[in-house]
Amino acid sequence: MAAGELTQDGRARVLADGNEIPLLALGVWQVPDGPECEDSVRWALEAGYRHIDTAQAYGNEASVGRALRDSGVAREDVFITTKFYPGSKDPEAEAQRSLERLGVDAVDLYIVHWPQGGPTWAWEGMQRAQRSGYARSIGISNFSASEVDELLKVAEVAPVVNQVQFSPFEFRRDLLTACEARGLALEAYSPLGTGRHLRDPQVAEIADRLNRTPAQVLIRWALQRGLIVLPKSTHRERIEQNAQVFDFELTSADVEALDGLDATGGTDRALEQPWW
Ligand code: A2P
Repeated sequence: MAAGELTQDGRARVLADGNEIPLLALGVWQVPDGPECEDSVRWALEAGYRHIDTAQAYGNEASVGRALRDSGVAREDVFITTKFYPGSKDPEAEAQRSLERLGVDAVDLYIVHWPQGGPTWAWEGMQRAQRSGYARSIGISNFSASEVDELLKVAEVAPVVNQVQFSPFEFRRDLLTACEARGLALEAYSPLGTGRHLRDPQVAEIADRLNRTPAQVLIRWALQRGLIVLPKSTHRERIEQNAQVFDFELTSADVEALDGLDATGGTDRALEQPWW
């Protein structure tokens, strides 16, 4: 199958390096290490999620690994992403530490968490981590279109994803177009606006009309916009609800109405303000 195409069941897409990535992931940002994180991940796996998105900076890789083992789901059936914390020095050495915490031989995707210190310096170590077999695919996060271009000029192996804050309210259309044109799949973090967008009246109107929840509408919008989407929840019923998004469709009129909520001006930037 060609890069960018969906798999037959419509639930995964083919990355530029040929690896397949499930479109829906559980994100575990701000989920404390320990029972809360283990429960969330285990519930997600029970609800059919096959993609978990963690990071060195989240401090909860060990819980993700424990939940994966306890779930009884085979390692090869779950796509695990972690991210290089760019306050550290060596992506390869840090990948090895992540694998120890996760208790796996390799992650499916290893991402530079943000372009601290510039967009290029960490990439050589990311490529080494991949060559050493610690990561099947490598990518980036919080990179604007110009930072993607800077990196592509020096990369031997191109990044296959860019993970950014993305929702109808942060509809970075030019960044999405630029990433797709360069062979990077876009992953949407905070697709519910960390909860804020669930209260929007227009989202609620669409949800009521379709007999769905606002969360399902926002997740479905991301899928129909061609994104990989990473909603976070620590509640079992919400985790389950957020996975019920492959059995309905938004009309193009509803997708366009949601597009109109964008407050970024369709920017090609990943962030309004860097935090580092
Ligand atoms: P909680 O973790 O307490 O369930 P985002 O994915 O944009 O970061 O948003 C995550 C926020 O949205 C969290 O505060 C989470 O709360 C909340 N959330 C996630 N799914 C749902 C849902 N289906 N209904 C209501 N709130 C949700």
